[in-house]
Amino acid sequence: MQHEDLVVVLDFGSQYTQLIARRIREAGVYSEIHPCTADPAAIKALGPRALVLSGGPASVLEPGSPGLNPEFLSSGLPVLGICYGMQLLARDLGGRVASAMDREYGRAEFEIIEDCPLWEGLDQARLKVWMSHGDKVEALPAGFRVLGRTQSVDMAAIGDPDRRIYALQFHPEVAHTERGERIVNNFLFKVAGIRPGWTMASFVDKSVRDMAGKIGDAGVVLGLSGGIDSTVTAVLLHKAIGRRLRCIFVDNGLLRMGERQEVIGFLEEHFELNVKCVDAAELFVGRLAGVVDPEAKRKIIGATFIEIFEREARALEGVEFLAQGTLYPDVIESESFRGPSAVIKSHHNVGGLPEKMDLKLVEPLRELFKDEVRKVAYELGLPEAIIWRHPFPGPGLAIRIIGEVTEERLEVLRRADRIVQAELLASGWYRKVWQGFAVLLPLKTVGVMGDDRTYENVAALRVVDSLDAMTADWSRLPSELLARISNRIINEVKGVNRVVLDISSKPPSTIEWE
Ligand code: XMP
Repeated sequence: MQHEDLVVVLDFGSQYTQLIARRIREAGVYSEIHPCTADPAAIKALGPRALVLSGGPASVLEPGSPGLNPEFLSSGLPVLGICYGMQLLARDLGGRVASAMDREYGRAEFEIIEDCPLWEGLDQARLKVWMSHGDKVEALPAGFRVLGRTQSVDMAAIGDPDRRIYALQFHPEVAHTERGERIVNNFLFKVAGIRPGWTMASFVDKSVRDMAGKIGDAGVVLGLSGGIDSTVTAVLLHKAIGRRLRCIFVDNGLLRMGERQEVIGFLEEHFELNVKCVDAAELFVGRLAGVVDPEAKRKIIGATFIEIFEREARALEGVEFLAQGTLYPDVIESESFRGPSAVIKSHHNVGGLPEKMDLKLVEPLRELFKDEVRKVAYELGLPEAIIWRHPFPGPGLAIRIIGEVTEERLEVLRRADRIVQAELLASGWYRKVWQGFAVLLPLKTVGVMGDDRTYENVAALRVVDSLDAMTADWSRLPSELLARISNRIINEVKGVNRVVLDISSKPPSTIEWE
């Protein structure tokens, strides 16, 4: 998609790079991340209005550390360098960088010492800021002025107002930096003169128009999972090409209770989506018989899904495109300066299909962060139950049943899980946590019920807080809620006589048990 006002963030490997782009977008300006090794001509062709150089873990004093192609600076664009980006600017423009004797990490107090557009409207001379770097600028490049300092860094903010190049030793993009948002906005609006125009309503309009043009009269096939990403992809495409979007929903028998009806029923009713539901529960559960190893389960489920999807898609006429709900973080990861290996994740998507089936891809969400997808969902009129639905793994309940998956065990887990979902919703905790669910263990223990001794299954309760699923901590639910969930599961779910709570964080544990 072509964007009128684009700000390019050049990534030097900072853990905060994505945050920079998100802050810019929150200000209503479209922003993209590109690796610091990107070709300046290719970036120029995108027509950016400003550049931001991210921080990074390296030191500009080390040989082999990532550099900045001088063409980026000769472009005349406004530039904001953050942390490592600051040191690069200082060094490359003729200043001097040295290793700091007393490093400042974490919180620091920053003092403004000269007015400049970045500080407009702050109305305070001192700010608590977040620092995370060992080097500092010791001599200014020609044309630069010192704009602010901290206790141990004399040149914590510098700038050349004539060339519109500014650099900060601290991170304005992190929440710990006081008024950081205003500083970022000042760079966009006061320094670069950009006007905010990136809204989800404008995204929907543009995306629908672009897709209609790209797809023409062809048909598109989409695997609908019921998750928010594929649902939003479906509704957007439906707006663009109507019933030429053919959705395939594979009921693999590993879904939560009521899921198929809730999502698919809704989409068919309210959006008149063209959905084919394929009943494949028996096939999946049959192939899982006797399989205990989690990787083996995943492989069987993945292969069976592709087999069914491919068969169904081939039977459709005039289909030239495969739609996928790929999000921007996946795009960044695969193009990352650090390389895809910096992130450990193996997700079961419809991998390999387009090559095999000779389909072209359409990925309407590939420019969006997750929170933006939710905003698009609101824009499209999707209900909160879909918008705030917790993530659910592709292999479904099969990886929440430890050991063998059988129809009977699936039914036990579905009933227990329904109670977890219902109680989280009723108590208002559903929206506060990242994910909450029940796990069925391959373990029976003794209990008493009335006068009888029981010998039944153990269910584990897993509820976590997280921002992106890369790290997570167990949610501190109130004990009354835990008690209700446990009592209800043991009393209402035949086959479970004990509930335990998972109190592990990720890492070293994972969110799912598998
Ligand atoms: P783990 O267990 O690795 O899970 O900490 C991280 C997040 O990913 C979800 N998950 C999956 N999502 N397909 C998906 O679409 C999968 O195969 C899959 N496996 C795990 C998990 O629910 C959690 O949110």
